[in-house]
This record gives sequence, C-alpha cells and structure tokens, in this order.
Amino acid sequence: MSRKPIIAGNWKMNNNKAEARELIDGIMYGVSQLDGDKMPEVVVAPTYTALWQVYDIIKNEPKISLAAQNVNPNPSGAYTGEISLSMLSDFKVKYVIIGHSERRQMFNESDEFINQKAIAILNSGMIPIICCGETLEQREQGVTDVHLEGQITKALKGISAADVEKSVIAYEPIWAIGTGKSCDAAEANRTIGQIRKVVAKLYSQATADKIRILYGGSVKPSTIVEQMAQSEIDGGLIGGASLKADSFIELIKGAM
Ligand code: PGA
Repeated sequence: MSRKPIIAGNWKMNNNKAEARELIDGIMYGVSQLDGDKMPEVVVAPTYTALWQVYDIIKNEPKISLAAQNVNPNPSGAYTGEISLSMLSDFKVKYVIIGHSERRQMFNESDEFINQKAIAILNSGMIPIICCGETLEQREQGVTDVHLEGQITKALKGISAADVEKSVIAYEPIWAIGTGKSCDAAEANRTIGQIRKVVAKLYSQATADKIRILYGGSVKPSTIVEQMAQSEIDGGLIGGASLKADSFIELIKGAM
C-alpha cells in the first residue's frame, strides 16, 4: 500500500503579510535542501489574506502545495465575509481544510454544511481535508469510535468512491489540539484504523486503502517520527509547530 504522506501546516489566524513572508521564505529555503523524491507532500494553509503572497512565492516550487483553511460551498452571491472556490482557484489552491473542530465549535458548522463543502470542493477539482475528532468527554465515555463513524459517514454522504479515494481525512482529537498533549501514537493509529474501516464499510477496502488519513493534535518534531512509523498514519495536520520554519522543516524530515 503506498500512500504518499502529507505534512500540512495549518497557520490558523496567524501571520500578517511580513510574518507570512518570513515563514514561507524559511520553508522554501528548508525544502530546497531536501531530496524531493523522499519528501512527503508538503502543504501550507495560510490565511486568506496571505494566500496571494504565498502562492506567488511557491508557484514554481512543485514540492509545496497550497491549502485554504475554509471555503463557502456556494458559487457566488450575498454571503458577506465568505470566500468561494472560484476565488481559491485563482491561487491554484489544491486542498481545502473543512470540518476543523474550531469551526465546528466556534462557528457552529454542522455535518451537513461540511458535506456540502466537501462536494463543492471535489466538484471544483480541489481536494478536501476533512477533519474529525472527539472531545475529551466523548473519549472518557468510550464513544470515540461511534462519534467518528457518524462524522465521517455524514461528511462523505453522496460522494463517489473515486472522489473519496482522492480525499484526505484528518483525525484530530479535540483534547489534543493546541494543548501540547498529543494522542499516544499507538492509540492514534488504532483510531485511524477504525476510520479506515468506516470508509471500507461505506465504500470498499480498495477505497479505504487509498484514502490518506492524517493525525493532528500537538504534533511536534519530537513526536513525528513515532507517529509516522504507525502503519495507518499517513501524515500530520499541524498547527502550532508549523508556525516556525525550522520546526516545520523538522516535521517534514521526520516524515522522510
Ligand atoms: P496543533 O493544531 O498542532 O496546534 O495542536 C492542530 C490543528 O488544529 O490542526
């Protein structure tokens, strides 16, 4: 089974123009020193306001792809403050992060809305990175697997097997995000294995074997090697440790 690993940096609401420039310049330099054949796919997700600048800097660097942190699934219209897929396509955005727990919790995004986004993203030729994850309470109650099955089943509703195979899932236990407390690698591996079983149940084992499933939640240079050694973990979606070029490059190296 060869699934190309992904190391994706989610910059969240960080980095003004000068900061975004410094970070992407540092990443560009670090990546230029690495062997492209051995590298994971490297993805950066700046804020919308930095997309143009980052796109302009990486556009001739095939080792780095661009992601958006969100999108509105409607084609255009009266959606004040929102950004469409056609706008993202101006910057050759390849991936769009959807279903992040911060958006589910702080912006009340429903499973249905996330499903609409996944469909619109795939229809426009981009790839969704569909986040899922349980709260600490759910984990303690022993309902993690059932909860994740529900989130994944609803996110993938109406999507063809061919589109699911291209998609990416990120398992991000909410209690591990930004807390410094990463999920134990073996447990993350087990949980991701369960998510893959859900995809196999909904589609087929062949589809489940193709979809890439990342782990996210306090991934650091000190944890990445053990995480990447797990058979089910196809890479990382990284917040805090992606905000400094040196640590992001260490994460990329940890996935080589
Ligand atoms: P973190 O964030 O690496 O800062 O925990 C991960 C994420 O929310 O994607």
